[in-house]
Amino acid sequence: MGLNFTDNDTFSITTPLYYVNDLPHIGSAYTTIAADVIARFQRLRDVPVLMITGTDEHGQKIQRTAAARNKSPQAHCDEIVVGFQKLWDQLNIAYDRFSRTTASRHQAIVEEFFQRVWDKEDIYEGRQQGWYCVSCEEFKEERELLAGNHCPIHTNKTVEWRDEQNYFFRLSKYQTRLEKFYDEHPDFIQPPSRRNEVLSFVSQGLQDFSISRVNLDWGFPMPTNPQHTLYVWFDALLGYVTALLDPDDEPTLDHALQKWWPIQTHLIGKDILRFHAVYWPAMLMSAGLPLPGRVFGHGFLTKDGQKMGKSLGNTLDPFDLVNRYSADAVRYYFLKEIEFGRDGDFSEHRFINVLNADLANDLGNLLNRTLKMTARYCQGKVPNIVVEEIPIDDNLKSKGNALRDAVESAYTALAFSQVCEAVFKLVRGCNKFLDEKAPWSLYKQGQQAETEQVLYIVLESARLAAYLLSPIVPDLATAIYSQLGFSTDFNDRSIGRALTYDIHSRWGALPAGQSLGKAEPIFQRIEPPNSV
Ligand code: MSP
Repeated sequence: MGLNFTDNDTFSITTPLYYVNDLPHIGSAYTTIAADVIARFQRLRDVPVLMITGTDEHGQKIQRTAAARNKSPQAHCDEIVVGFQKLWDQLNIAYDRFSRTTASRHQAIVEEFFQRVWDKEDIYEGRQQGWYCVSCEEFKEERELLAGNHCPIHTNKTVEWRDEQNYFFRLSKYQTRLEKFYDEHPDFIQPPSRRNEVLSFVSQGLQDFSISRVNLDWGFPMPTNPQHTLYVWFDALLGYVTALLDPDDEPTLDHALQKWWPIQTHLIGKDILRFHAVYWPAMLMSAGLPLPGRVFGHGFLTKDGQKMGKSLGNTLDPFDLVNRYSADAVRYYFLKEIEFGRDGDFSEHRFINVLNADLANDLGNLLNRTLKMTARYCQGKVPNIVVEEIPIDDNLKSKGNALRDAVESAYTALAFSQVCEAVFKLVRGCNKFLDEKAPWSLYKQGQQAETEQVLYIVLESARLAAYLLSPIVPDLATAIYSQLGFSTDFNDRSIGRALTYDIHSRWGALPAGQSLGKAEPIFQRIEPPNSV
């Protein structure tokens, strides 16, 4: 049986700990936005949440990058980390912990964990020969390589031959236990295509993997043989555990695992699936720790249909995007437009069209014109009607009533595009309803009660849409709520206490008679630049 993601007392979620070889790119932004949205959804339900992000700072890749910049590795990392934190602020990411693998308390956790695995006799010395991709920080099978010894993921980089004495982790010992675990926890690896990928990889037979390096000093010395440096992935995965420590905790495994472990959701991209779905659970089994709830591997982003890369010169700068279009715009586009789990594309043309159609027109205009009519016809107050008197089979009321369950299960399954689809069905229904009912004529004909009912139905539907979309577009939701007369900030971490989920997630929560705020466009239409 899988973990139930809606009925837990607490909820913990991680993004990968990003390499600091460069400033964050749109791929890291994509994972982080998605994690933030789930964390926000849980906070809306008043579930205590811990969202973890951070940086992976050791290893050869970082050491070389720093050397090329004539910096010490630590000085280089400190500089790049600021760039990550700045982007997360600009994208409105409400993370709770930022885990850096160079933190001294992390070393204590890694050493304690290492000792447990060592005591289990799961670490032994051997000879490692093979092709290594420094950009992946991973050995590759010869058959995986592209022509000219290029890495299949970093296609512009060649792999390097290694032949050295290393310490190995006995992964092969865990083959049967892992298979049993996958079998008993069919939701552990998501979506199903990734699960199949892992099952097929594991069924080919697991090889032990090396967890130490010689000729590298940027990392933690191996506790039992300090001539060796611990492999960056062994140390990085444990960054998730270190992140669980409260700021004043002494760094021990017991303290770290007390409150938030096991982590419910590890959100990652598909390229690092093996580390999270095979190596990590085996390491945890070896150390005798419970395993995480699920690992979700999302797809890759392309630009205008092409793989993004520096060599192609078509990378998408997340700082530039958010500066030009706002955090909500970026958040909305990627989650609405791409089915989470699949690869997806960014085109600026499509980006502008989607935002204008959904946020500026369908939702923004709807709210704006309805508020203006309400100001004129109802003295700027929510019409004074009794919700129960609106017929239960009213199309929008019944759509609204059904929405919460649909949206809740979509968020739980990380089906963000389905959340948007479901909400916008209601919004588009409202636009149609307004055109059909024409409250402006009803009002002219003196049909005050009918006019008020129509306006209430639309205002309430817009409220519900804003509430359910608030994890994705928190600023927009805050603006809508404010124009509807609430003083609520969806960026407030205690939002679940400020607005009761059970009331606000249902149709009919807009209080009759509430004074409305000033009607202002919530999302400015974007004028396409000439080049797009
Ligand atoms: N440091 C490791 C993770 C260690 S976790 C304990 C790492 N870092 S990374 O910075 O290279 O990658 C971070 C994430 O960005 C990965 O989830 C990866 O899948 C994602 N992406 C990198 N390029 C991407 C795209 N073009 N599109 C979407 N995501 C992509 O791996």
